[in-house]
Amino acid sequence: MRHLLTTADLPREIVQRILKDALSYVPTLGLRRDRRELLSGRNVALVFFEPSTRTRLSFETAAHRLGASAVVFQTQGSSVEKGESLQETIATIEAMRFDALVIRHGRDGVMNELRSMVSAPIVSAGEGTTSHPTQALLDASTLTEKFGTVEGLRIAIVGDVRHSRVARSQVELLTSLGAEFAVCAPAEFMPSEADPLMNSLKKLEDIDEALAWCSVLSLLRIQHERIETNNKPMIEDYRRQFAFTSERASQHDDVVVIHPGPVNLGVEIDAVVLDRPNVLIHRQVTHGVAVRMAVLHRLLSA
Ligand code: CP
Repeated sequence: MRHLLTTADLPREIVQRILKDALSYVPTLGLRRDRRELLSGRNVALVFFEPSTRTRLSFETAAHRLGASAVVFQTQGSSVEKGESLQETIATIEAMRFDALVIRHGRDGVMNELRSMVSAPIVSAGEGTTSHPTQALLDASTLTEKFGTVEGLRIAIVGDVRHSRVARSQVELLTSLGAEFAVCAPAEFMPSEADPLMNSLKKLEDIDEALAWCSVLSLLRIQHERIETNNKPMIEDYRRQFAFTSERASQHDDVVVIHPGPVNLGVEIDAVVLDRPNVLIHRQVTHGVAVRMAVLHRLLSA
């Protein structure tokens, strides 16, 4: 594994090894049982052209727990604000001789352009609406911990599927592990006709149909930053058909709920359901650290 740009870069045996390593790291988190010997002396650059809380902090803490140093680049306060191009910014960071670049960018296709420019391994921390491979890995790790396997799970993705890189990577990776998918969204958030991966999935009318069909509800927020038109649903209409409300939660303890975050409380999910045992949103964040430890170790120890 030279780079990790999409889940398609990951052969099945590498996925299984990353999940096995991640699941072995999870119980050690918070117990002063870091593995600093594994990547001692290595340096990782976290290069974020878009906002992030979970992905950036979990890569940063993952690097530290393995003994590597991690430095963070964010566009705000950088020379991008003086007009420096993406290519020149990456060439500048590359010239500092990091052992790996973890990059988030909002434009589709950017990772393929950058891979030919740099000699260090690149890990995608999210690219446009195309892919978010470590999110899919942490979803797989969280669900494997919960169910023992992903195989045979029925996963209903509900929300803004059209603009979601999370949905695309989740379907690609978890289908390869044996899960079955359906999507459920207002017409304006359904995948475009040009998206063969997403368009081939089973379609469900509303969240009640999704909850009756699925074992896992995969909720998505409305991605306002990627929506150019004013064609957005009214919040009350959206909630009536697509939100995991406290009323629905009280009727569906049998369904496990995941969400990549950030959540928009009172829109796609109610605040009071976050602490229910079948809602794994914060457990996913814990698995995010473990999965990113496994990914960094695999890339940097090769
Ligand atoms: N899930 C996710 O990518 O969250 P952040 O944008 O906070 O990193």
